[in-house]
Parts: sequence; C-alpha cells; structure tokens
Amino acid sequence: MRIYLDHNATTPMCAEARAAMAAALDVAGNPSSIHAEGRAARAVIDDARGAVAALLGGARDEVVFTSGGTEADVLGVVGLALAARAAGRPPRVVVSPVEHPAVAGAARGLAGLGFAVDAARVDGDGALDLADLATRAAGASVIAVGAVNHELGTVHDVAAVAAIARAAGAWLHVDAVQAAGKRPLADLTAVADTVAISAHKLGGPAGVGALWIRAGVDVAAAFPAGHHERERRPGTENLVGIAGLGAAAEAALAAPARWAPAIAAAARLEAGLVALGARIHGAGAPRAGTTVNAAFDGARGEAIVIALDLAGVACSTGAACTSGSVRPSPVIRALGLPPARAAEAVRFSTGPTTTAAEVDRVLALLPDVVARVRAAAQRRAGAGGAAGGADHGPASS
Ligand SMILES: Cc1ncc(COP(=O)(O)O)c(C=O)c1O
Repeated sequence: MRIYLDHNATTPMCAEARAAMAAALDVAGNPSSIHAEGRAARAVIDDARGAVAALLGGARDEVVFTSGGTEADVLGVVGLALAARAAGRPPRVVVSPVEHPAVAGAARGLAGLGFAVDAARVDGDGALDLADLATRAAGASVIAVGAVNHELGTVHDVAAVAAIARAAGAWLHVDAVQAAGKRPLADLTAVADTVAISAHKLGGPAGVGALWIRAGVDVAAAFPAGHHERERRPGTENLVGIAGLGAAAEAALAAPARWAPAIAAAARLEAGLVALGARIHGAGAPRAGTTVNAAFDGARGEAIVIALDLAGVACSTGAACTSGSVRPSPVIRALGLPPARAAEAVRFSTGPTTTAAEVDRVLALLPDVVARVRAAAQRRAGAGGAAGGADHGPASS
C-alpha cells in the first residue's frame, strides 16, 4: 500500500465531487444557451456558485470560476492592478517573497507591464515582517499574499496585512488555495478584495478554481473575449469541473473537522522527524498544521523523495509545479538558507485519510533512507564531484 503525503500538491477527490461530476457528464447543454438543455447546464453552475460562495462566506455574484488556482491568482493580482492603473492609481504592487509561482509570476508579469513590484521581507521562519510591509505598501495599489504557504504551511496574519493595505489605500489579493477546505475562509473575505481557491486542494478535480471578488471592486479581465462570468473570465464554462468544485465546497463546509486527522498526523510526523534529528522549516511561525517541511543536514531533499518513493511513500521537495526543477525552492531560499541547505528540504503534507500507522511507517523508513543519501553524497564529495553533493553549492545538475 502506498503512503500519500503530498496532499498540498493534490488531495484525492471526495465521493461527493465524483458523484456531482458523473451527473454533470450527462448534462448536454451549453450554459449560455437559452433552451432547456442550456438552462439545465446553467443550473449546475448556479448551484456550484452558491456552494462556493457559501464556503467563502460571500455572495454568489462575487464568485468567478476559473481554470484553477493559478488563473484565479493571476486574475486577482493582474486584474486588480490593471483596474487600479486604469483608475489612475499608482502602478505599484507588493507581494511576499514566499508566494506560490501563481502569485509571484503574476507580479513578475506586471513588472513587464511597467509596474513597480516590491517584495516585503520575511524572517527565517517565513513570517512576514509587517513593519517592512507597511513601509513598502506606501503608494501601492495592490498587495498580494497567501493565507497558508504551500511549502511551509505557515500562515500569514491576513487581518494585519489587510489593515496595512487599507491604510495604504491598496487592494488586497489573498491566495487561499492551501487554506480552502482546511480553514474558515470568511475571515479572509471579510478583509480582502479578491480571494483565490482551487478545487483539487479541497477534494475536487484539478483544472478548476474560483476567484472571489468583493462586490464593487474592479478586476480587469485580460481580454474582452466573451461575456461569461460577468465579463471577468471569457470562455465556455468547465461544467463538469465546476460541478466537482461545488460539491467539494459543499462537503468541506458540511464537515469542517474533515482535516483534523491530517493535523494530528502532521504533529506526530513532526515530533518523529525532530527526534530523528531533522530541522523543521517555518517551525517558529504560526502554521496551519498539515504541512511539515523538514531537512536532514547533508542529505539532499530530492534524493530523499526518490528513495521514499521507491519505498512506497509520496512526498515532495516543494510545490509540485516546480518539482520538475532541481533548483532549490525560492520559498526555502527566502528563509535565508544557503543553496545547499535549501536543497535539503522535503515537504510532507498530510490529508484527511493519513493515519498514525502511515506516519510511523515513514518514520521507520527514514533513518535508513537518510543514511544512504548521506553516504552517497559523501562518496560523490570524496570522488571530487560537486554536482549533486549535499554539502556543496546549488543542487543543480
Ligand atoms: C498556494 C497555491 N496557490 C496557487 C496554486 C495553483 O493552483 P492550481 O494548481 O489549481 O493552478 C497552488 C498549487 O499548488 C498553491 O499551492
């Protein structure tokens, strides 16, 4: 039996999402059509919109369906920034240096469009330096932060960030992709202007997400290429995916304790990892409790992930979308670690089905895995090969 500890990358679909998607496969119409088939398709979307709005603690009209968390983040960050510039506000955006590539990339894209893009400082645990953020926020029109960090599980103080944004007259985008389903979102929509979520992190399918946009806040669509989603997101809707997202949102709202076993399992795993001599990244900051980012000195994270995979355990070295790359994660680098130390990071993320027995099995496997990875690194170092050596520079190959 495989042990899956990569729920931050994708968590398995819940039964409710599967059932809703299977039913939606039989709905033939286009939601924009006015005939009965079209209206049936529209009803599926309306129901899902209601469920997602309820999860977010917002109104139906404030929910825009997207192709996932990435598009929701890009629409939020770029859409707010373009609307702000069109309204004559300063072309200045502030993010944090530990954001997911969806937010970081959106900000980089804005830099290419002539925006000044600044990153507030974080400390060695990934916690935002709020005083630094307040300084950089002066003259900004958009601030964007994640609610729960995808690699560290750390939690930004969104209420404090919102107060800074308000004082600066800036709009606030919150990436709640790793928070949705696990934590209440109403405290985010109470203070943010846009909030992004993604279905496959909360029990729905990949390839669909949503952006909540506070009523009255302007978000510019990239192109006026269709009237869908109230002109915010052109294109015929992904009916089956949206049905899955709606059902997953409804299930999440109905069972707020669903992720409690994940938190218990992560705590057990972290205690065991510390006992094995691992250091835990982000341990000094408030965390959501289902992510443990660990490292063993002298053992490259990528080698540990491969060895654990061969032993039947799935975990990751960082965000799944960047795991094809062997460069140390920018999130871990932002903690101030040198490249060799940053390359030791391994991300374990637990889910609703993770058991204590699975955690214990991983902890039992690790001493041998770490010893073998360290020995291989020492052999390479002895042979004079720096490439891939755990105690050498960046883990580039
Ligand atoms: C914090 C965060 N934001 C955004 C995304 C992107 O979501 P999606 O995979 O749905 O595009 C992810 C996915 O890993 C994430 O963890």
